This record gives sequence, C-alpha cells and structure tokens, in this order.
Amino acid sequence: MSSAAGGASSAARGLEGIVVAETVLSDVDGNAGQLTIRGYALEEIAGRISYEEACHLMWYGHLPTRQELDALTRKMVAARRLPEAVRTAVELGGKAMEPMDALRFAAAGLSADDPAPDDASEAANLERAIRITARIPVIVANYDRVRRGEAMIEPRDDLGHTANFLYMRQGEPADPHIVHAAETYFVTVIDHGMNASTFTARVIASTASDMVSAITGAIGALKGPLHGGAPGPALEMIEAIGTLENAEPWIRAALRRGERLMGFGHRVYKVRDPRAEVLGKEAEDLVARTGDRRLFDLTRQVEPIAERVLAEEKPGRNLHANVELYTALLLQGIGLPEDLFSSAFAIGRVGGWTAHVLEQQAHNRLIRPQSVYIGPRGLRWRPIDQRQPAA
Ligand code: ACO
Repeated sequence: MSSAAGGASSAARGLEGIVVAETVLSDVDGNAGQLTIRGYALEEIAGRISYEEACHLMWYGHLPTRQELDALTRKMVAARRLPEAVRTAVELGGKAMEPMDALRFAAAGLSADDPAPDDASEAANLERAIRITARIPVIVANYDRVRRGEAMIEPRDDLGHTANFLYMRQGEPADPHIVHAAETYFVTVIDHGMNASTFTARVIASTASDMVSAITGAIGALKGPLHGGAPGPALEMIEAIGTLENAEPWIRAALRRGERLMGFGHRVYKVRDPRAEVLGKEAEDLVARTGDRRLFDLTRQVEPIAERVLAEEKPGRNLHANVELYTALLLQGIGLPEDLFSSAFAIGRVGGWTAHVLEQQAHNRLIRPQSVYIGPRGLRWRPIDQRQPAA
C-alpha cells in the first residue's frame, strides 16, 4: 500500500484513495453505485431539470425558484455572444484543429472581455462562471460549423442553453425529445467528485490563478481517452463487435491482446456506474422514437457479456459499464458526430468545473503535493565538448 504522507518513501501513484478536498458539490459512492449532486441522487434530477437549473444548483446550492431561474437564464443568454478574440480563435481552430484542441484554443481566450480581470471577489467569479458556461456550447457549435465549411451563426436568445446549442450546430431548432435527451446528458455529467479534469481545475485555482485558466486546463485533462475521450472509442468497439455471436470471442481476444474495453471500468465505481443507468434509459427512449435500435440493442446485449468476460479475464478487478458506454449511443442519437463527443462532455462538465473553482477559491489552500526523487545524485558538471552522448 502506497503512502501519501509528506516525506513518504513511496508514491501514491494516481492519488488513488487520497482525499484532496472537502466538497459540498457531489459525492461518488463507488461501492453502492450512487452519485449525489448537492444533496440530490442523480436519478432524482436527471431528466427532470434543465441545464440552467443544474447550474443554479451547483453555483448557489439549491434548485432555483421560477424567479431565480428566469434571472439566471437572462444572464446566461446575455453572456452567449463571444468576444472578437474568441470568434477569431473559433474560426482558426475550426479550420486547423481537432475538436478538443479547437475548444481548448478558443476557451483560453474567454478572458478577453472580462470587465474587471483583477477582481477576485466571489461575485466577479460567479459572473465568470456564468459567462464561461454560457459560451462553451457556442464555441463548440461554431467550430463544428467552421470545420464543416459553414459560416458561424449567432445564438438565439429565445432558446434555452441546450436547445440553443443544438440549433446553432444544425442551423435549425431540434425536436423537443432531442433537446430533452441532450439536456439529460449535460445534467448527468455536470459533476462527479474529484475526477481528473475537476482536480486539474482546482489545482490551477489553488495558485490564485484565474477561472479561465482553470477551465482551459480542465479541458486539456478531459481530452485524454482515460477520462473524457472514451465515448467515441466505446461506440467504435460496439460497431467492431457487430453481432451478438461475435461479442464474446471479440472481447476475449481484445483482453488477451492486453487491450482495454472502452466504456468499462472506473477508478471509483466497483459496481455499475449510475450514470450508465440514467443514460441507458434516455438512449432507449430516443431509439424508441427514431426506430434505429440496432446499436442500442447490441450494446444492451454486449454489456453483460463484457462484464462476464472481464470478470473471467481480469478477476477481482470489479469492472462494469461506466458512463461512456451509453453516452456514445445517446450523443449519436442526438446527431453529434463521434469526434464531438468529448466536446459535448465539456459542455456538460463546465458547470461543475466552475463550481469547484468557486469552492476552491472560497476555502483556498495551495495544492502542492510532493514527489519521491528516485534519480541519481552527485553527478559532476563537464564542459560541453567533453560530454559523452547518453548510452
Ligand atoms: N478493460 C480491460 N481491463 C481493464 C479495464 C478495461 N476497460 N479497466 C481496467 N482494467 C484492468 C487493468 O488492465 C488493470 O489490470 P491489471 O491489474 O491486470 O493491470 C486493472 O483492471 C486495474 O486497472 P487500472 O488501470 O489500475 O484502473 P484505473 O482505476 O487506473 O482505471 C480507467 C480506470 C482508466 C477508467 C480504466 O478502467 C479504463 O482504462 N477504462 C477504459 C477507458 C474508459 O472507459 N474511460 C472512461 C472512464 S469514465 C470517465 O472518466 C468519465
């Protein structure tokens, strides 16, 4: 067992099991398979509240009254228009970069029209949380348009946060059931304990840096396939499996080659990820409407086979479906291309990231762990022309 204590002689690799913060934002019970968001079980709110309501819950600590929701919605709508610097970044990124790189590039410019960059008060940071969260989907929709060779489009003030994103991406309003599915997804992924991108945001905030830097760093952490980059590959895996008969041999062969099954396993959950349940149901509602059930039905059939084969090939590791397995089907069902899935994750998660930055700022202590030095000591300097190439 590794140790986390300062001056320890071994490292807590991956910080597994190490508590790095107290939070009122969310709790992940990995043994019971329960996710609590600010006091609410995920199943209690997902599918019932809008993303704006979820943001209100994260930032202000309670679900809004009608009046509070109207006030927050007005602010988020007013914040949607991008500063010129970000519009330029979206145009450049959309033409030259992969989606998550384009998002990181454009998000980094979100401080461009900050009215008071030196104001570190809670009120100013709340305004920043609102601005950043309102703008991430506008950035994503527009760089997706640019890379498809279409012109950027202005947001529509009469549409909610999620409906506006779908409208901007497609250029026409989405059906209400598509909006509902997307909204359920964004609410479901809004926060999830001390995941890697949230931790990244908190580390950056802990240096008393600014919120835009924290969110830009979080986007970088989310990009990785071990975190937010898995839904695309999860869908590719189901497509590669192709048929029920092929599932077991395909999965066993992949595991014996040392590969990982995308959409399975989790650092904290030792049972099925509760988000897989919520998103699986939402995906089922969606395919029931569209009639295109093939991949959904195959995923439902593959899941128990994968769990069984994982238990046989990787005994004792408790590997079950995670959020990404059904995310892929849901996001595909709402019409997003695979390479936009991680960006969609960022659209949902930014409400949580900003809340964590606010929480970190309210009770800040610089996050500065230690490392154990295992390299050599006592080496002697030599003039450059007397050095030998490394072996
Ligand atoms: N497929 C096959 N084997 C797996 C998988 C998997 N999906 N996940 C874990 N294992 C195995 C590992 O190979 C390891 O085996 P070993 O003991 O023989 O070396 C053991 O289970 C423990 O794995 P770790 O890597 O130590 O577990 P960790 O907690 O670091 O990993 C992670 C969690 C990264 C999510 C992992 O399960 C994984 O790679 N899953 C696939 C990618 C994925 O679905 N990512 C999305 C996660 S959800 C999210 O972040 C939003």
